[in-house]
Amino acid sequence: MVKFSEIERQRQVIQAKLDGLKAKEERNFTGQFSTPIVLAKAIIQHTTKIMPQGGKIRFLDPAFGTGAFFSALNSAFSATRIEAATGYEIDPHYGIPAKKLWSETILDLQLTDFTKAIPPIDDKNKFNLIICNPPYVRHHHINGQKEQLQAKAFSAANIKLSGLSGLYCYFMALSHPWLKSNGISGWLVPSEFMDVNYGQSVKHYLLNEVTLLQIHRFDPKDVQFDDALVSSAILWFKNKKPKVNHRVKFTYGGTIDQPAHEKEIRVKVLADEKKWTRFPVSGERFINSNSIPKLKDFFTVKRGIATGDNGFFIMSPEEIQRQNLLREQFRPILPSPRYLDVTEVNADEKGNPILKNQLFVLDCKLPIDEVKRDYPYLYIYLQKGVARGVPDRYLCKNRKIWYAQETRLESSFYCTYIGRGRKPFRFILNHSKAIVSNSYLILYPKPFLEKDIVTNAILKVRIIEALNQIPGKAMVDEGRVYGGGMHKLEPKELGNVPAIEIANLL
Ligand SMILES: C[S@@+](CC[C@H](N)C(=O)[O-])C[C@H]1O[C@@H](n2cnc3c(N)ncnc32)[C@H](O)[C@@H]1O
Repeated sequence: MVKFSEIERQRQVIQAKLDGLKAKEERNFTGQFSTPIVLAKAIIQHTTKIMPQGGKIRFLDPAFGTGAFFSALNSAFSATRIEAATGYEIDPHYGIPAKKLWSETILDLQLTDFTKAIPPIDDKNKFNLIICNPPYVRHHHINGQKEQLQAKAFSAANIKLSGLSGLYCYFMALSHPWLKSNGISGWLVPSEFMDVNYGQSVKHYLLNEVTLLQIHRFDPKDVQFDDALVSSAILWFKNKKPKVNHRVKFTYGGTIDQPAHEKEIRVKVLADEKKWTRFPVSGERFINSNSIPKLKDFFTVKRGIATGDNGFFIMSPEEIQRQNLLREQFRPILPSPRYLDVTEVNADEKGNPILKNQLFVLDCKLPIDEVKRDYPYLYIYLQKGVARGVPDRYLCKNRKIWYAQETRLESSFYCTYIGRGRKPFRFILNHSKAIVSNSYLILYPKPFLEKDIVTNAILKVRIIEALNQIPGKAMVDEGRVYGGGMHKLEPKELGNVPAIEIANLL
């Protein structure tokens, strides 16, 4: 008789050994991160509650690795209930040892590319349970085969995947014809799809082609797993078209079985909501969101400047002096939010920020011949940049003059672009001529507001107070969440933040 607990013990040893033989960057690149067994078991345990009781199981894992889910399956179900089990693994580094490890079991492990495999035609040969932690390969690494995969995804699941979709979206789509009707599928995927544009087609599939049962996300504060998994979502669906009044269970925090938050959201609401990560902590939006004033009604939001190489272009006054460079070829720039501990930045008589860590960004728009002729020290400094390969960096290479910064005016209002915790974003009132890097967003008052600001000196202060009163949750709801609970807001998203506080003020 096969002793599954002993196989699992060996599997963990093998997994650690095989991971150790690969560089972390390579595993990152190819999306090879195994599911911790505790999580695999929790996912399978929860799946047993969703599945119909009794009946035989036909199991498929399209991205098998060494078989964390197959192992968890065998610890949850007796071997007699498992009628068939199939796995796909493209990488022989994991596939060959896994095949050997599970050789005494029912498992049929195919060491080939799942995206090229032909699904069974007959329903009886399909699977009623698909569980998968697909490779998290980002779109720019899906080389040469994107169009083919898009066409396949469309014919398999009626999904028109955007070119920005990661490989995991294709896995989900291509698994569709492998799942029996009424079969259950569980996916451990990056939660990013819930909020970003490329996720719309995945969400469309989940709302129209199948019955989405549940989406669970972990709270980054209860760190049970590493960063990559903390920003993941686990979703379960049934291969059946949904009823019109179907409700999807959203759970967050705690454990899968005992989440800290739980809400059921109607599919109709989900179809209209761009940001699914607002659930279940926030509920559905009851007010017509078009009637609420937004920040974009008062400000034009832009990114801060991307220098291409902050280490080369941004300097302290002492460094500028040490290199014999002229201040007039620099403009002041605020330090990154981590090093800025004030909400209001005051200025000296030249418009430079009064800060203990003053910084300046090189911003010269003169052609190189002129620099060579008129500013020999700047020329020498630029040559040092050439030796360091700065002009070959992506942003610099794409500029007319590699050392000239974007023309972006300073503003009185900045917002941090990234942050953690309950109130991850801060607004800064700037009285100086300092610009900001792309670790901030810039808010330029619309002309009508600018006019008021010019005539009413205190208004800027009132505006910054009102901006900083916007609840953290209102901002987080518009943004996106990354690994380790990191929140980001793109310019458009900041523009969509409700600005009731500003409307009241004005
Ligand atoms: C995120 S890992 C998950 C492994 C395992 N199922 C687990 O949960 O621990 C994804 C696995 O898919 C494999 N993989 C990547 N592309 C594949 C493809 N096109 N076909 C089959 N397997 C693939 C990788 O080699 C990797 O072992």
